[in-house]
Amino acid sequence: MINRKELIKKYLDFFKAHGHKEIPNASLVPENDPTVLFTTAGMHPLVPYLLGQPHPLGKRVMNIQRCIRTGDIDEVGNSTHHTFFEMIGNWSFGDYFKEEAIKWSFEFAIKVLKLKKEKLAVSVFGGDKRESKVPMDQTSAKTWETLGIPKERIAFLKGGIYESDNNWWGPAGKTGPCGPCTEMFYWKPKNIPPPKEFNPEDKRWVEIWNDVIMEYVKDDNGKYNQAKQKNIDNGRGLERILAIMNQLEDNYLTEIWQPIIKKIEKISQQKYAENKKSMRIIADHIKASVFIISDGIIPSNTERGYVLRRLIRRAIRYGKILGIKNFTSKIAEPVFEIYNDYLELQKNKKQILQELEKEEEKFNLTLEKGLDKFNKIIKNKKEISGKDAFLLYQSYGFPIEITQELSKEKKIKVNKKDFEKELQKHQKLSRTSSAGKFKSGLADNSEATTKLHTATHLLLAALKKVLKDNNIIQKGSNITSERLRLDFSFPRKLTKQELDEIEKMVNKQINKSYEIKKEEMSLEQAKKQNATGIFDSKYKQKVFVYSIDNFSKEICAGPHVKNTKELGKFKIKKEESSSAGVRRIKGILK
Ligand code: ALA
Repeated sequence: MINRKELIKKYLDFFKAHGHKEIPNASLVPENDPTVLFTTAGMHPLVPYLLGQPHPLGKRVMNIQRCIRTGDIDEVGNSTHHTFFEMIGNWSFGDYFKEEAIKWSFEFAIKVLKLKKEKLAVSVFGGDKRESKVPMDQTSAKTWETLGIPKERIAFLKGGIYESDNNWWGPAGKTGPCGPCTEMFYWKPKNIPPPKEFNPEDKRWVEIWNDVIMEYVKDDNGKYNQAKQKNIDNGRGLERILAIMNQLEDNYLTEIWQPIIKKIEKISQQKYAENKKSMRIIADHIKASVFIISDGIIPSNTERGYVLRRLIRRAIRYGKILGIKNFTSKIAEPVFEIYNDYLELQKNKKQILQELEKEEEKFNLTLEKGLDKFNKIIKNKKEISGKDAFLLYQSYGFPIEITQELSKEKKIKVNKKDFEKELQKHQKLSRTSSAGKFKSGLADNSEATTKLHTATHLLLAALKKVLKDNNIIQKGSNITSERLRLDFSFPRKLTKQELDEIEKMVNKQINKSYEIKKEEMSLEQAKKQNATGIFDSKYKQKVFVYSIDNFSKEICAGPHVKNTKELGKFKIKKEESSSAGVRRIKGILK
């Protein structure tokens, strides 16, 4: 048996020996990234460095990154898909390339983790179907062969960028770094020997490893260009590897799920073996919710808050199937023990449990009535109209997935298209834009967002000065090319006078034409210099500090403008509450 912490240690030790430096496990809410709701892969926070900006720790980095993926949410309930997972990753920023990356992936799997070579298979990029621009990846295949993987176990998967995403990874959003990839698969069944030949369609081969050869960058026009800097982006889901290492065919039987499953069994007085789907969904969604709330999100009807709301409500609905009520915070308890190395989780525990309880109370008020209404609606019907689905959403708080799942059980359809139309009409909630964000994406480092990013630094500094509160901290930032949005800790509404003063102070700095200074230093030095940033990191690392005269000094990855005069004129458009103790300001540049 090997546990999560031992696996992490083995991983970090191995890649450290190959010159990698550990970088922090970043927030699930991507900083300064307007196109994406959550961090979906370890490479997300690293985009600037993959595009060529020097990383303060050098060209080889590694980490354990918490991630949320909602694209596969329908598959949660099986034995291997999760909404929240940890990705163990290593990167080369224009340093080593595919031969070394593959060799180390293999060595780590075989020598360190002691996985069996006879149970390994790999896939490599088989070339584009329509364009010959990106050729099939013979080098990777050869490297695998040299390491002893027989030809029959190497599958060239055709497709690529125009046909499908077969062995092509990224960009995570609309534009950015991407490239062909080569994946490792492991034969999972304990008692059936692996077939000689690898068939990627056979689901008993589980993907455990993805080595992305990031040698392309997709641009705004949808073109794939050779990257100036050729990188390696290697990532693996910790959950799957842990299951395989422990010879378990079900991820939920590992120690990072069992305490949660046991708690559900105890509360419901039912057995996991007979209720796998419901218990897996509850465990998965509650674990994900705990981490999302910990990173500053609360349930709401928009964007991240709505993803969170749907996760909690879906868990509650499955709880109802098991006959349990008022359970979310109890089931969340073991999550804090399993992940006791996440200090922020421990710090935010009280608030996390409160938010879960609050959301559960809210949904409990309408769930029963909603179910009655649902049963009335479906009487003698083959399809639920968009209007009815919207009624369930609007008046009974049913996320569309719940209506869809209930309908599926009764073998009737839901007109989702009309539902979306109703939703847009009534709430002006852009489903298309948030659907795009679901798939994730990358920051566009356009001129407009770069300017707004620098303006955000000025705004944060001005807030502290005008409100005479040095303890104000940034709780979140979201910048589109149109506006900035800054969430910060403060207990009350700001007055009109304060807002005017803040706006004036920001504009004064802009008009002073300050150069923006960028310096590299240790976290310790940054702290000494009173730079704004998060210091409770356990990592000894180098950081970039951006200063605007003596007015603002922040730890940040950039990008920023050269001179404040480029910003034009700053205007505050709105000040409102974001959550308890957190205010939100939206502002623009004219
Ligand atoms: N970025 C790659 C993935 O998410 C490693 O699979």
